[in-house]
Amino acid sequence: MAFLVFSCSLNPGSRSRILAHGALNRLESLGVDAEFIDLQTLALPFCDGRSCYQHPDVIDLKRRVAECEGAIIAVPVYNFDVNSAAKNLIELTGDAWKEKVVAFLCAAGGQTSFMSIMGLANSMMLDFRSVVVPRFVYANEDDVMGEQIVDARTRERLEEVVTTLVRFARALSPLPQDSSP
Ligand SMILES: Cc1cc2nc3c(=O)[nH]c(=O)nc-3n(C[C@H](O)[C@H](O)[C@H](O)COP(=O)(O)O)c2cc1C
Repeated sequence: MAFLVFSCSLNPGSRSRILAHGALNRLESLGVDAEFIDLQTLALPFCDGRSCYQHPDVIDLKRRVAECEGAIIAVPVYNFDVNSAAKNLIELTGDAWKEKVVAFLCAAGGQTSFMSIMGLANSMMLDFRSVVVPRFVYANEDDVMGEQIVDARTRERLEEVVTTLVRFARALSPLPQDSSP
C-alpha cells in the first residue's frame, strides 16, 4: 500500500505542484511508499455521472485510491474554492475515498481565501467518511517562488501535515481479519 500525492493544478508553472513535490520528498524521507499523480499528465474526462466511469484512467485511479494507505491532495484555490480539476477528480473517483485519511495542500494568490478548502473537505467527510487531517498547508505567492518553498513556516507546516497524515493512517489502519472483535 502506498500513499498517493495528487497534484491538481493544470498550470505548467504551478505552485501547488511544488508543495506536492515537497510532500512527496517528506513521505520518502519517512521511509513510506509514495506515488505522485499529476493531473497535467492525464487526460481525464469530465465527470458526466455515466460513461466517464468506463474510462481506463478513471478505472485505474479509482483502484489506486481504493488501495492507498492515505492521500495528499495539492490544489490551486480558484474563486474561493478548489479548482475544477480537483473537484472533477473527486467526482470521478467517488466511493474509492471511503474512510481514507486525506490531507490538503493549497496554493492561493493571497491571504483571504484561507477557508476555501473547507467545501471539498466537508463534502469528503460527509460523502465518504474520509478522515481529514485537521491542519493543512495554505501558501500564497510569496511563500512559493520559482521551484522553491521559500517560506520557512510553510516548509514546517508541510512537514507537520505529512507526518500527521502518516500517523493518522497508520493508527486507523484496519485490524487484520482474524483479530476483529
Ligand atoms: C481562475 C482563478 C481564480 C483564482 N481565484 C483565487 C481566489 O479565490 N483566491 C486566491 O487567493 N487566489 C485565487 N487565484 C490565484 C491562484 O490561487 C494562485 O495563482 C495559485 O498559485 C494557483 O495555484 P497553482 O499555482 O498551483 O496553479 C485564482 C487564480 C485563477 C487563475
